[in-house]
Amino acid sequence: MNHIAAHDATPAIRPIGPTFGAEVAGMPIHGDVTPELLVQFVSALHRYRVLVVPQANVGPADLVAFSRRFGPLEIHSRFESTLPDHPEVFCVGNIGQASFSRGIEQWHADSSYRPVPSDASLFYGEIVPPEGGDTLFADATAAYRSLDSATKQRIDGLTAVHSLESLRQWGLRHNPDRKQEVDNRADSFPPVRHPLVRRHPVTGARSLFVCPAVISHIEGLPIGESTALIDALIAHIAQPRTVYVHRWSQGDLVMWDNRAVLHTASLFDHTRYRRLMYRTTIAGDAPGLSE
Ligand SMILES: [Fe+2]
Repeated sequence: MNHIAAHDATPAIRPIGPTFGAEVAGMPIHGDVTPELLVQFVSALHRYRVLVVPQANVGPADLVAFSRRFGPLEIHSRFESTLPDHPEVFCVGNIGQASFSRGIEQWHADSSYRPVPSDASLFYGEIVPPEGGDTLFADATAAYRSLDSATKQRIDGLTAVHSLESLRQWGLRHNPDRKQEVDNRADSFPPVRHPLVRRHPVTGARSLFVCPAVISHIEGLPIGESTALIDALIAHIAQPRTVYVHRWSQGDLVMWDNRAVLHTASLFDHTRYRRLMYRTTIAGDAPGLSE
């Protein structure tokens, strides 16, 4: 589709969450957004960490073209749930081949099991149930900032091992009817090491990089201590003062900075309602998100 960039008005930015999150009403979502507008959007993302574009009403081609403006896109490891014409779009929900889960993947940043995890993700509500299926965001940056100094000292410098196999085992425990082969990609995605406290390459802000279903253990700690530390950090992160719950309306687009926030989902009544979400995932070290 052709777009006349000159017609793109400057969108209005309105903070929505307790410590983070902003609504960017009127942001055009397509591949021909002007560089000036894109710079404004990226700086809002760095500042607010989660951006909501209400009524973006975008198709897969424009979603992919817009997402590509930030950098190369990941192709999801669960390839069977990507769109045939747009393999950059990962489908989540209970329609067709979309990735469906009866369990919640707990707090996480996307694709942390990759050596260079995703910088940012975009999530679009194509078909939204009237209730349930919320997306919850936690401000991992503000949560780190509010830790006491003894805890900061204890965790700065610790390394966590993230593993797709750990996530697969977790998924099998929560979805007894899931086929064993789903996510059975340990050969392509061996365990990787990431700092438990990550530093944002643009803002310099530190944040908690804690993904309980994906982390097998924290290096150098007995497993009991490792699990207890992860649980304690998650309890700290998941407090209402650092959580924003997005209740979806059809046509909403949400983009978040995986380097600064964590997210998780809520279940919906899949026996009554239909849900279809499109996700694109900006690969790590994205040129459009690094300044
Ligand atoms: Fe996710």
